[in-house]
Amino acid sequence: MKKIRVNASKAYDILMGEGLLEGAGEAVKNACSCQKAFVVSDTNVFPLYGEKLRASLEKAGLEVFEYVFEAGESSKNVSVYSEIVEKMCLAGLTRGDVAVALGGGVVGDVTGFAAATYRRGIPFVQIPTTLLADVDSSVGGKTAIDLANGKNQLGAFWQPSLVICDLLTLDTLPTEEYQNGCAEIIKYGMYGDSNLFEKIAAGPVSSDYENVIARCVEMKRDVVEKDEFEQGPRMVLNLGHTFGHAIEKLSGYSIPHGEAVATGMNIIATAAVKLGYAKTGTDEKLREVLKKYDLPLETEFGAAEMAEAAAGDKKTLGGMITLVVPTGIGVCDLVKVPVSDLLKFALAGGLR
Ligand code: NAD
Ligand code: GLY
Repeated sequence: MKKIRVNASKAYDILMGEGLLEGAGEAVKNACSCQKAFVVSDTNVFPLYGEKLRASLEKAGLEVFEYVFEAGESSKNVSVYSEIVEKMCLAGLTRGDVAVALGGGVVGDVTGFAAATYRRGIPFVQIPTTLLADVDSSVGGKTAIDLANGKNQLGAFWQPSLVICDLLTLDTLPTEEYQNGCAEIIKYGMYGDSNLFEKIAAGPVSSDYENVIARCVEMKRDVVEKDEFEQGPRMVLNLGHTFGHAIEKLSGYSIPHGEAVATGMNIIATAAVKLGYAKTGTDEKLREVLKKYDLPLETEFGAAEMAEAAAGDKKTLGGMITLVVPTGIGVCDLVKVPVSDLLKFALAGGLR
């Protein structure tokens, strides 16, 4: 088992290994010294792993409550959030208890936001079950739900008390979810680690889950420890996300996050080469790896609508937006531009 410590405003461990669900109850109890555990999961994950988690929590002496919602991004909304906090209240959860997110990024984000806001904040534990959640969403304390007008518009920074990555849960992951996770892993290589990028390019991520996930988590840990509340350096984690979020929004969230980020990275890397920020060939190398993992390079949406949707991103400030622009493989710059420049980047990124 690997253990990675995150020293954010709240310090916590990320445990990583095969079969960790069995001992999850003890680990939760040790991290939170709680009496009640409120488990949130979705309709795909709960039937696979809910029973095992419940048994482990009960064995550790915890009283267990469960809430399961329909799987998918469309559940990351105000009504699911509101049901969770109402049920927490009915269960009599206090600040001495714990919310446990069992699932992918959707479960983690909505549970984390409920934990951040219920009684002004209760402890929560992330048990990620997708590759994307292992490498990204379960770490770093960003929690949120979507509003009709945009993604992650209602949220809070709220660090978990513990993260438990049981790598065996990846055995049941559908292929497209594996690919979505790979998109975020490629992002790590692209913004900050050319060795990781080469490793992903050479072999399937699935041949060495533990080391690849651990490397991504360490990179995220380093960034979060430097800039937990995203005032500057943390923005590198948003590589591909400005246009990625625009694709998600324009598709009515039918295009998953990982796929959208893959296309978003291709757009910004293409623009970076065209506008002279990145070395020639940087975009081509990225495209080769994205293709290897069957990730989409193109979008049906046009430059103008993409620029308009991206301008609504929550990262705009005073008419300016910070773009994460690759300058080569494993290096990037944060470039602050007027929101009106988004169209220029979209066009240079190959959109019509
Ligand atoms: P997801 O949670 O919707 O999971 C994808 C699908 O896989 C779902 O249908 C789910 O039921 C299923 N699934 C999950 N684990 C499974 C398993 N082990 N076996 C079989 N099926 C399984 O999506 P995701 O890709 O994990 O996360 C995407 C969400 O994460 C987005 O909402 C995105 O905005 C958010 N996100 C948040 C952060 C953050 O820092 N908070 C970072 C990146 C992404
Ligand atoms: N996924 C982006 C971040 O955590 O900052």
